[in-house]
Amino acid sequence: MRRDVSRRDFARVVGATAVGASAALVGASTPVAAQAAGTETSRSLAFPDGFLWGTATAAYQVEGAVTEDGRGPSIWDIFSHTPGKVAGNATGDVADDHYHRYKEDVALMKALGVKGYRFSIAWPRVFPDGTGAPNPKGLDFYNRLLDELHAAGIEPYATLYHWDLPQALQDRVGGWESSETSKAFAEYAGYVAERLSDRVKHIFTINEFGAFVELGYRVGVHAPGLTLAPKAFNQTRHNAVLGHGLAVQAIRAHAKPGTKVGLAENMTVCAPVLETPVHVAAAERATRELNAQYLTVILEGKYTEAYLAAAGADAPVFTDAELAAIGSPIDFVGINIYTPVYVRADDSPAGFTVVPHPASFPHMASPWLFVGPEALYWGPRNVSSIWKVGEIYITENGCSSSDVPAADGLVYDTDRIMYLRNYLSQLQRGVSEGVPVRGYFLWSLMDNFEWADGYTNRFGLHYVDYATQKRTPKLSASFYREVIARNRVL
Ligand code: NOJ
Repeated sequence: MRRDVSRRDFARVVGATAVGASAALVGASTPVAAQAAGTETSRSLAFPDGFLWGTATAAYQVEGAVTEDGRGPSIWDIFSHTPGKVAGNATGDVADDHYHRYKEDVALMKALGVKGYRFSIAWPRVFPDGTGAPNPKGLDFYNRLLDELHAAGIEPYATLYHWDLPQALQDRVGGWESSETSKAFAEYAGYVAERLSDRVKHIFTINEFGAFVELGYRVGVHAPGLTLAPKAFNQTRHNAVLGHGLAVQAIRAHAKPGTKVGLAENMTVCAPVLETPVHVAAAERATRELNAQYLTVILEGKYTEAYLAAAGADAPVFTDAELAAIGSPIDFVGINIYTPVYVRADDSPAGFTVVPHPASFPHMASPWLFVGPEALYWGPRNVSSIWKVGEIYITENGCSSSDVPAADGLVYDTDRIMYLRNYLSQLQRGVSEGVPVRGYFLWSLMDNFEWADGYTNRFGLHYVDYATQKRTPKLSASFYREVIARNRVL
């Protein structure tokens, strides 16, 4: 009979930490070897062999070195340097200084045991002016990073746009308000694909339309800080998905054969209020409609009738050729998942209603980050059942915690572990039912610049002391290392 002792062992380790064995808890101990056969907890939460465990970051959030080696300014440099836009008037000028410390950071990944790393390439490093003359020194940084990853046996997954638009394009054409930016993005995508696809086999075009377009061009709390009227705003949404589609075509034209291309979208994840057929069907209807402006048009090559009808005279102007470009076939879908919306069936023409979260609904340190582990089940399941997508990645999942170091200097983020354990259990549920999720990238490898929240919210597996740039693994790093080593939730 198996003895269920590993939880007790874990508690014992935590207890031991208080008397000075903390290195064993967070350091590079031998997690699996230390567990004698027969002392494991249930194996029922196992993932399939070859499941890709990874971590993620993005250029402006970690790199720093914003004026180095010919990098041009991005809209986030200008925005964060505008007083009052970011908490504490923080900027990404230094961030995690990853530009200089990437070797140390790859070593952190290696110690975790991750097999994949999702990072982003800063467009203004490669084309400081947005278009025109490339800056080879900018791309060199990514060559160095790729070589380091390769030496560590970690597969690179590169995102081309994680919100750092060259400011020159904002100034010249109004950024994503103009389809000139969509075309410029495709040129940049083709240029990078040609030069890096010998080592990068998976490319994400754009990260989170649902955040950078909505928050940057409608709500105004992200760069470039605009609050456009509906007509101009819907056109901006259209230009963004057009940029994705044109980039897919450019990557196909310039990348080495076998390069796979997709996107990383923070789709609205619709979870049924009750898991009964009528609400499950309503959640599928809601998934198509609530993602109509981004994921649906990309995967179907057309806007839904309801989206166009609701926009009325403010609907975007587009051609059939543009729709065909937007709907260019992709190889995989990446979904960033943090939180669900709950949906129920009703008798309205749409056939669904979103049920608002009650005031008591629990959330993590970020007030928007409601805890709904089933998002990691319903997100990929809906994508697979509605659009028959055969290759899905969870390109981000994770949470912010208060992360206050204890007297021994370590961060005991049991709330993050609770969050991850529950979300991963729901992911495992989907994968074991055949939902084709191939990998999971935990956000984030380390604490970093959290956009308008500056450095006030921490999402990392590693605590970063911004005064010294020291990285310290949190308890959640141990948790994730054990999950990876055992290939199952624990
Ligand atoms: C999504 C974004 O892609 C990432 O940049 C951000 O830090 C995390 N969510 C957490 O908010």
